Amino acid sequence: MNSFTEPALKAVFAEDFKIGAAVNPRTIITQESLLAYHFNSITAENEMKFESLHPEEDVYRFGQADELAAFARKHSLAMRGHTLVWHNQTGSWLFEEKSGRPAGKELLLARLKSHIDTVVGRYKEDIYAWDVVNEAIADEGSELLRPSKWLETAGPDFIAKAFEFAHEADPNALLFYNDYNESNPHKRDKIYTLLKSLLDQGVPVHGVGLQAHWNLYDPALDDVRAAIEKYASLGLQLQLTELDMSLFRFDDRRTDLKSPPADLLELQAERYEVLFRLLKEYREVISSVTFWGAADDYTWLDDFPVRGRKNWPFLFDEQHAPKPAFARLAGRNG
Ligand code: GLA
Repeated sequence: MNSFTEPALKAVFAEDFKIGAAVNPRTIITQESLLAYHFNSITAENEMKFESLHPEEDVYRFGQADELAAFARKHSLAMRGHTLVWHNQTGSWLFEEKSGRPAGKELLLARLKSHIDTVVGRYKEDIYAWDVVNEAIADEGSELLRPSKWLETAGPDFIAKAFEFAHEADPNALLFYNDYNESNPHKRDKIYTLLKSLLDQGVPVHGVGLQAHWNLYDPALDDVRAAIEKYASLGLQLQLTELDMSLFRFDDRRTDLKSPPADLLELQAERYEVLFRLLKEYREVISSVTFWGAADDYTWLDDFPVRGRKNWPFLFDEQHAPKPAFARLAGRNG
């Protein structure tokens, strides 16, 4: 068991932003002391997604989400809500009438309102910020929005409606639009266009979540900086919501590594160091940095996108000991 002689990450960045981790019912046990010592915010990895909470029209399952909220209370951690509207992990019942025919716009939006009232209402005391809409922008091409059941059924309006419903359900919650490839100039400009049009319509959106599923080579730091500047120019607050630093380029298929080589850990340390130096420059607009996990014993990047391959994306190793990247962050700031 780690006795934590190193400084706490949340203390290192106490003047800058919250430091968060995605958790699940297993990791709040296996990583409990690490989470309590180093982090001051959590996000449910899957347990607050639509299909987890609301598998059928008349059935809500709150058990696992409640466990995570109780963990946050036990350790006085802030909690982000993730996520209300997404094209994935959402039951097909939502888009169908009872008869099986496709649902119309009115029915879909009525169901969305009821879902948001119930879920956002339930966690009002626990959750200070929600990812209201996740990944609505198309990565490629000139279309702004990605094709989805949401778009097909309700038209582009579903986005503004989701924010309005969430604001009604909890006027104190900070409401975020969240997406990946957020630093890619083409997608960044589309995300900006969407956010600007929401703000111009008076939609209650308060922040943009940069998922930040990055690797040692991409995105370029200049692109991250340009994205931060562009989003911040809208007057929104920014959060990194799902940060991890894969050791592999996205299209790298290698599966030969059984442990992380020292040279890659050094590159990872340099990358984290320059990244956090940049984030600190923008501490006035960045309010939280959440990792999509906490330590290398558990990451969604194990077996994804390459089966049979482990990854080591975090600041803490499989035993929860600080990695070279942690030392660089703590050294520079501590
Ligand atoms: C997206 C979602 C997250 C999670 C990751 C993969 O980034 O926002 O909830 O599902 O994919 O784990």
